[in-house]
Amino acid sequence: MNFHVLTLFPEMIEQGVNTSITGRAINNGLLSINAVNIRDYAFNKHNSVDDYPYGGGAGMLMQAEPVYLAYEAVKEQIDKRKQENIKSEEVTSTEPADCSEVRNSDLQDENSKKRPLRVVYLSPQGDVFNQKMAEEMAQEEDLVLLCGHYEGIDERVLEEIVTDYVSIGDYVLTGGELPAMVMIDTISRLVPGVLHNDVSAEFESFQDNLLEYPQYSRPEEWRGKKVPPILLSGHHANIEKWRREQSILRTMERRPDLLKESNLTDKEKKWIRQ
Ligand code: ADE
Repeated sequence: MNFHVLTLFPEMIEQGVNTSITGRAINNGLLSINAVNIRDYAFNKHNSVDDYPYGGGAGMLMQAEPVYLAYEAVKEQIDKRKQENIKSEEVTSTEPADCSEVRNSDLQDENSKKRPLRVVYLSPQGDVFNQKMAEEMAQEEDLVLLCGHYEGIDERVLEEIVTDYVSIGDYVLTGGELPAMVMIDTISRLVPGVLHNDVSAEFESFQDNLLEYPQYSRPEEWRGKKVPPILLSGHHANIEKWRREQSILRTMERRPDLLKESNLTDKEKKWIRQ
């Protein structure tokens, strides 16, 4: 998956994602991060990208043209890569035209190629980011993240290029870079191969809108606190049942708002009403 970040602070993005799991995935070629400096597209001799808002008011606004030029450059780059891929697929394809057995992942690739380019503007005015949005965005081959600064960006360019407005929570940050990194991190770990153990993205908090059950490692007793005996029993069915119950209890206690969206069985619903 390819992330393209339009920003005034590309070094912040590069430093933020080049470590740990995302860093390894970049080195392995599973992810690419293209941090584009909007200032490189400044169209005046002072290299400035901001100006006063019409109608007055505090602060400066990012101007439309540099943002648009940076977007156009990214779009051109993506279109060119896609054209080259189509050409090389035509040359190397040896499959018969009426091949009926199409793999699921091929279909997914095909679908993501046909969709229009998604451009996300990070803003406290957007839809609040969640795991479901991350899962949906992880299907894209390319994702453009536009980071604002100062008092925002000229509305006209937003109207022209933005497909999704996303907030990471009800608070105001100084810019969109941290939110962009939050999105990159969350989406990346859903890309197949990024986590070594693919199942670990499946069984965790927010899977099924339930929080993750408590986990324990060695020693069996730590400062007088013992590991729940069931986890030492080796009885896998009972362990699964206990974990599911713990997930439900934990969600009831810490995030009851999630429960109405979780797929509890009738038996589980009865159990929590007791
Ligand atoms: N930019 C400033 N604050 C933000 C927030 N909470 N989410 C996304 N982008 C932002």
